[in-house]
Amino acid sequence: MIKTELLKIGDLEGDLEKIKRAASLIRQGQVVAFPTETVYGLGANALDPGAVDKIFKAKGRPADNPLIVHIDNIDSWSMLVETIPDQALDLAEAFWPGPLTIILKKKDLVSDKVTAGLDTVAVRMPSHPVARKLIELSACPIAAPSANLSGKPSPTKALHVMEDMQGRIPMILDGGDANVGLESTVLDLTFDLPIILRPGGVTREMLELVLGEVLLDPSVFSSLEEGQKPRSPGSKYKHYAPKAQVTIYKGRQDRLIAGISKEAQRLIQAGQRVGILTTDENKASYKDGIIRSMGSRQRPEDLARVLFSLLREFDDLGVDHILAEGVDTKNEGLAVMNRLARAAGFSIVDL
Ligand code: TXA
Ligand code: MG
Repeated sequence: MIKTELLKIGDLEGDLEKIKRAASLIRQGQVVAFPTETVYGLGANALDPGAVDKIFKAKGRPADNPLIVHIDNIDSWSMLVETIPDQALDLAEAFWPGPLTIILKKKDLVSDKVTAGLDTVAVRMPSHPVARKLIELSACPIAAPSANLSGKPSPTKALHVMEDMQGRIPMILDGGDANVGLESTVLDLTFDLPIILRPGGVTREMLELVLGEVLLDPSVFSSLEEGQKPRSPGSKYKHYAPKAQVTIYKGRQDRLIAGISKEAQRLIQAGQRVGILTTDENKASYKDGIIRSMGSRQRPEDLARVLFSLLREFDDLGVDHILAEGVDTKNEGLAVMNRLARAAGFSIVDL
């Protein structure tokens, strides 16, 4: 067991020494957890295959699932990819720094460890000031998956990272709660048309304003058939899953409330502990179970911010079954429903 230090970063200037220590660990080939605006990341020097190996070990991540490389300037991007098409530059101008990851053909410099043997590399420029400072002081691109144990919901608080990574990594930088709350949008630009492999905070609607038509990979809303090869290797794993079984209910609001209430009663009578994941508009209508609202349906970005944290809270409360309300897939709602559907293993009831 390694001792895991948790360092709180209040203000960037005052706590610069702490970020310097984290950067020096990265330069020595160690793994450090750090805040980003989406979720916490588990970072290592992307150009050091030995360091990247340690990320996979700490997370228990399958070696065939590639990592996102984090940069703090466009020059670093040119180092990593063969060419940057105009479309990609337009996207960077519109959305970087921010929650968008762009996939392009990689250069040889990027090791197979990072890309899991693919000839492409996923790159993102995060906006969180601590993430940016860490990359700058490390003076290297940082490969980082979400800082959860493989299969668990991504961490949106330093405390979540501590729960999963204590004893596995030397340092966690605590930069407060993640503002977006879900992982970045992953966009593949290596096909004829841009295709979203994972929806996130930069929405399909926002991307289409810059690019025109943008496709959605089928894996966003369905599990793969046996033997099918996904474009995004991550999409074949059960993700974002709490210990509890999750079921999503979709349909008219009155039917939704009636259906969930009835199922909650049935499960509680059978001796199960039930969590209800609802929205501000409906929360007062439920009587039984542990009731948590994600926020207002009018503001899908609010639902995104708290979803993972609520899934973890249900686990802490020993919930056996989570009954979740489906939400509209417009704007950030698409990413919310994608993560919910994966947490539910695509178990969705239409009412
Ligand atoms: O917001 C985020 O993206 C966070 C923070 C830390 O930046 N990171 C993150 O990383 O969510 P991770 O490893 O949990 O998810 C990366 C996803 C995986 O589904 C992986 O399969 C996919 O991106 N991916 C990475 N490189 C790829 C590539 N070259 N081609 C296709 N998919 C790729
Ligand atoms: Mg992840």
